[in-house]
Amino acid sequence: MPELAHAVIQGLILRTYAMPMLRVLALKVAQPQAARQFLGQLVSGTQDSPQLATATDWTVKPLYCLNVGLTYAGLAALGLQPDSLASFPEEFVAGAAARAECVGDTGRSSPENWIDQLASPDLHVLLFLFAQADDVLEQVTTQLRATYSGSGALYELSVHEARSLPESKAHFGYRDGFAQPTIDGGLPPAMPDVLPRAPAGEFVLGHPSQYADFTYPVPIPPALGENGSFAAFRILAQDCNGFEQFLTDAAIQTGLDRELIAAKLCGRWRNGVPLSLSPDSPGEQIPLEERNSFDYVPSDSVPDAFDDRRGYRCPLGSHIRRMNPRSSAVAGSSGLKRRIIRRGLPYGPPYDALNPGDGIERGLLGLFIGVSLKDQFEFLMSDWANKGSFAPGLRDTRDPIIGNNSVSGATFLIPMPGQKRPLEVSGLSSFVTTRGGAYCFLPSATAIRYISGLFSDSSLIPCLPQTYHVHRGHNLYCTLPIRKYTEYGSD
Ligand code: HEM
Repeated sequence: MPELAHAVIQGLILRTYAMPMLRVLALKVAQPQAARQFLGQLVSGTQDSPQLATATDWTVKPLYCLNVGLTYAGLAALGLQPDSLASFPEEFVAGAAARAECVGDTGRSSPENWIDQLASPDLHVLLFLFAQADDVLEQVTTQLRATYSGSGALYELSVHEARSLPESKAHFGYRDGFAQPTIDGGLPPAMPDVLPRAPAGEFVLGHPSQYADFTYPVPIPPALGENGSFAAFRILAQDCNGFEQFLTDAAIQTGLDRELIAAKLCGRWRNGVPLSLSPDSPGEQIPLEERNSFDYVPSDSVPDAFDDRRGYRCPLGSHIRRMNPRSSAVAGSSGLKRRIIRRGLPYGPPYDALNPGDGIERGLLGLFIGVSLKDQFEFLMSDWANKGSFAPGLRDTRDPIIGNNSVSGATFLIPMPGQKRPLEVSGLSSFVTTRGGAYCFLPSATAIRYISGLFSDSSLIPCLPQTYHVHRGHNLYCTLPIRKYTEYGSD
């Protein structure tokens, strides 16, 4: 097992905090030197100012956990040297807005419609503040603001709030928080996980990856790149009313129970029990800690798994089977090579079926973490969520929960035992709309110290760059030209 530097790796990469609140502060670098100093304070080790949460072992769970994401524009604004900037991967350099099309962020989800300047190149720093209680959240926010506003270091562009819902549910009513990859050399999983451990380099830069003899390139210098990772931050609005209405219509259309249809769309019943373990009923008797012990075909991990290669229990096109096909066959045999860590919390109050049109936005503040945005987040969104080509029999269908289903004639296929053709359910729409996003580098504590020390021994303090060097290139999977994010400037 590799030795992982838990003391410097940001905590949210390796552990689930299980805290009920999250506040995301979206910031612009106003004064580079003061901003570097502010970042340095987060890893100074003093108790006077809020400190970065690393993956160091806890004896007592802290009251809050603070993590930092930096966009490419942010790294440039902080004064990173050109050779350092040029060593970052092209999709991160281009940024979330420029890469929107290939992950299905078109129409209502396109960056032109993103809120709060999230598509703007002014978005430099994101602070992710998880907390156990409201007073802690407010107190730490006040301390942070006093430091970054007081010194004129950072300008606040927007603030985004999320809160856990009763019974660990996400909007659309599914219990969440079961499946996460277990990382080699990481921390013990919060929920028992039967799948093979993910190599450390699938989630932490500088370690052997999921591909034989391959390590993802580490941005230079090593003090900056090593032990970092990348995250796609997403604000995803959920159309709860549209989703529930679809379930009712689909039940009438197919004659199936609407809760069974909800389970077929996700791959789990709304209580989190996977269809693979309980295909006909919600299986309440299955204990929580067993709800992640399944595979879609017999495998080394689960030799007695039901052979569901046709998707009679769990449709091949369901959300969790698309996002993690486990040992089932997919194009390129890349099933267990595209894993992703999911962090985040829902926003907006619980959906009330008795007051469906309350006009309140609900959704998810999500972070999708992996060492390669292109090979993990973007691949999942482009090839597995928004195409049907990765497994036989999916035709031109898309993920029923997160797919871009605003195309006319979007359908979901439910394979039925004894029937030659699957049940075809129509009437889908895009139940999830992207309201904003950012591609972030999650630097290690060492990297933050490196950034804070830039120019400290020089009188030459750089000014904010006026233009950023943007690579043009092609996404391996989407074959779309990368657009300059400046094309989306929102103000
Ligand atoms: C609002 C949007 C979303 C909703 C409502 C949603 C809902 C869910 C639910 C209910 C589960 C099952 C709980 C669990 O297995 O822990 C799940 C699992 C999962 N989701 Fe999503 N999800 C959303 C967005 C996404 C996105 C954008 C991605 C990827 C980029 C993603 C990737 C996954 C993965 C990898 C799993 C675990 C699958 C497994 O290992 O079995 N989800 N999601």
